[in-house]
Amino acid sequence: MALREILVVPNPVLKQVSTRVEAVDDAIRALMDDMLETMYAAPGIGLAAVQIGVPKRVIVMDLAREGEEAQPRYFVNPEILWASEETAPYEEGCLSVPEIYDEVERPAQVKLRYQTYQGETVEEDAEGLFAVCIQHEMDHLEGVLFIDHLSRLKREQAIKKVKKQVKAA
Ligand code: NI
Repeated sequence: MALREILVVPNPVLKQVSTRVEAVDDAIRALMDDMLETMYAAPGIGLAAVQIGVPKRVIVMDLAREGEEAQPRYFVNPEILWASEETAPYEEGCLSVPEIYDEVERPAQVKLRYQTYQGETVEEDAEGLFAVCIQHEMDHLEGVLFIDHLSRLKREQAIKKVKKQVKAA
């Protein structure tokens, strides 16, 4: 496993649409291992492969609370089969937009289909933080960031703040 660099805005790679994974093989599992290690080190609760510069439809996540045992999760080629009409707001952040948080409104429940770490196809219902996180990460696969859901002014301010942080680092 290896730590990878997390790209931040306005890196143009983050705007790329990620391509489907043809087969969940050892190379994809090695990518997922690196992603998980990188996410834990950040620390974060979700990461899409494009955020480490690999535009493939792969997501890792761990929603365990502090003090709980780790619950690593892997999503390959995730699709949303159904989304509730009911929406819910959540104050989101993103490792590619460090230290910026703002409220985004998304469907409160979704039904997913994806492939697991072993390449098995499964369906699962998501709600609460899981629903927020998977929709946020799946946006990354389309080149969409949570700040793209905000007003243009807020988005430009966020990018400006991140640029300043990068310069100061
Ligand atoms: Ni993100």
